[in-house]
Amino acid sequence: MRSGRPFVSEASPEELVSNLLRGALATRTLATACSLGVADALSNGPRPSNGPRPVAELAGETGVDAETLHRLLRALASDGVFEEAPPGVFRNTGASELLRRGSGWHDFAGLFGGVWYRTVADLDTTGKPTFPSTFGTDFWSWLAAHPDERATFDRAMEGGKERRAQRLAPLEWRGDETVVDVGGGNGSLLVELVRARPGLRGIVFDLPETVRDEATFGERIEFVAGDFFERVPEGDAYVLSGILHDWDDERAAAILRTVRAAAGDGALAAGPRQRPAGGERAGRREVARLAPARAARRQGAQRGAVARVARGRRIRARRVPRGVDRSPARLTRR
Ligand SMILES: C[S@@+](CC[C@H](N)C(=O)[O-])C[C@H]1O[C@@H](n2cnc3c(N)ncnc32)[C@H](O)[C@@H]1O
Repeated sequence: MRSGRPFVSEASPEELVSNLLRGALATRTLATACSLGVADALSNGPRPSNGPRPVAELAGETGVDAETLHRLLRALASDGVFEEAPPGVFRNTGASELLRRGSGWHDFAGLFGGVWYRTVADLDTTGKPTFPSTFGTDFWSWLAAHPDERATFDRAMEGGKERRAQRLAPLEWRGDETVVDVGGGNGSLLVELVRARPGLRGIVFDLPETVRDEATFGERIEFVAGDFFERVPEGDAYVLSGILHDWDDERAAAILRTVRAAAGDGALAAGPRQRPAGGERAGRREVARLAPARAARRQGAQRGAVARVARGRRIRARRVPRGVDRSPARLTRR
């Protein structure tokens, strides 16, 4: 297992601790500004693009208290999200432009400042996920009962789909395979892949409640609803993008077993979401996953270990060369 680089910060120790202490404030403030559409108002308002606009005007439009909004925007401006000049007048920065509606960052801000924020507030060291005790059910069932949040989640997951499709497109395709995107969300990754490799057929396999626009799928992609612990559709290749990391080893192996049971001879399994191994950001992600799912801490070589758990006596997992993808495994019969 890679141990990761030590985190090096240019901030003083005091600044570092102080910034961390108010991290929750930043998360909530960002989510609030997003839910009010402030970045959109500064971009698309009646004024020329990118504002600037007085906070009183923004507050009037969104129906919120002007003094409170001023404090929130000033706090964000102190971190480089929005700029205040002159006092009481705000404009977008590069960072706040990222937060406009329709961008994955906007959706992530809503999730991080909403359901995730509440779950993390209950994070403890018992070894049990906090989501069920906070919300009374598991994360996926909760999303099923909250279609707006489910849609936000599916849109947020689209982030980086072009990059992920670019990793998949150069694999050794025969050209007419059926690719099953296991837990494929709203299908956006398969749409990109089939655009790059038009001979492929796609099956987006996920829970029925994913929020998707099947009109964007075209004729070569279909959606199949189901549970990947029970069965997955037959196919020539399986994409597992951002799936195994949600589960502990036992359940990750169970997913791989259902894939193996459905896979044809020589089927390919690929996991195109690349995460930085080690380092500060990866460390935070590991903690982030403790709250909803208590997933396994698994990177690089550990992924191979999960594949070995899954293979039993019938599956052989082999990596395809680095450079194409770090995490895919080819599944073949022995
Ligand atoms: C972290 S998201 C990854 C989405 C997408 N593959 C990506 O990389 O953006 C995990 C996906 O697994 C799906 N999922 C969770 N439990 C499932 C189950 N039991 N059967 C099928 N899909 C499931 C979720 O609905 C979600 O779309």
